[in-house]
Amino acid sequence: MPDLYVSRHPLVKHKLTLLRDVNTDHRTFRELVRELALLLCYEATQDIAISLKTVTTPMGVAYGVKAIERVGLVPIMRAGMGLLDGIMELLPDVQVWHIGLYRDEHTLRPIQYYNKLPAEPTVQVCIVLDPMLATGGSAVATIDILKKWGVQRIKFLGLLAAPEGIKRLHEAHPDVPIYVAELDERLNDIGFIVPGLGDAGDRMFGT
Ligand code: PRP
Repeated sequence: MPDLYVSRHPLVKHKLTLLRDVNTDHRTFRELVRELALLLCYEATQDIAISLKTVTTPMGVAYGVKAIERVGLVPIMRAGMGLLDGIMELLPDVQVWHIGLYRDEHTLRPIQYYNKLPAEPTVQVCIVLDPMLATGGSAVATIDILKKWGVQRIKFLGLLAAPEGIKRLHEAHPDVPIYVAELDERLNDIGFIVPGLGDAGDRMFGT
């Protein structure tokens, strides 16, 4: 069974419904993506490593924790970049490593055009960001790159997934948990998620 977390939070469902609406304008679309990313990141970081620490309050000493894992966000360009802002509000000290991929519209295979990862890994956990997990090709190719880079712990965070994408990602990388706002019905014959929300990159950037 895939390690799949489909959000059950009513605010996520509410915002996703607005996001899907064909009448939602680009500015509102970007704002909703930012808010959804923040909410989903809250769910996806529930097992982040901590150490115990004490803190001095105005009234005494309290026992608390400190998040200690170095986290890297890996947005898949273009559309994954829309998920960055919300998550960086929640995790201001993260590193961001962009990966540029586009899907060939005939073969649906991912073509890489940008990767500036340094030789050695600089983070312990990577969260791959892409709003759409359609065939899963882009997510699998990105996680292949990150594993070759040497990162052991990787998570995928997206907005919508098709069953085909979940299956492909889980078969290629069964150790990678998948966090999404919703699992949709299927892919259509040109590889778009149905009912979906259309082309996330185009709706985000007005193209
Ligand atoms: C879309 C989407 C994902 C990819 C998903 O990107 O943002 O990156 O397709 O499809 P897959 O799961 O079948 O690989 P697209 O190639 O349209 O590029 P863009 O983000 O630049 O719009």
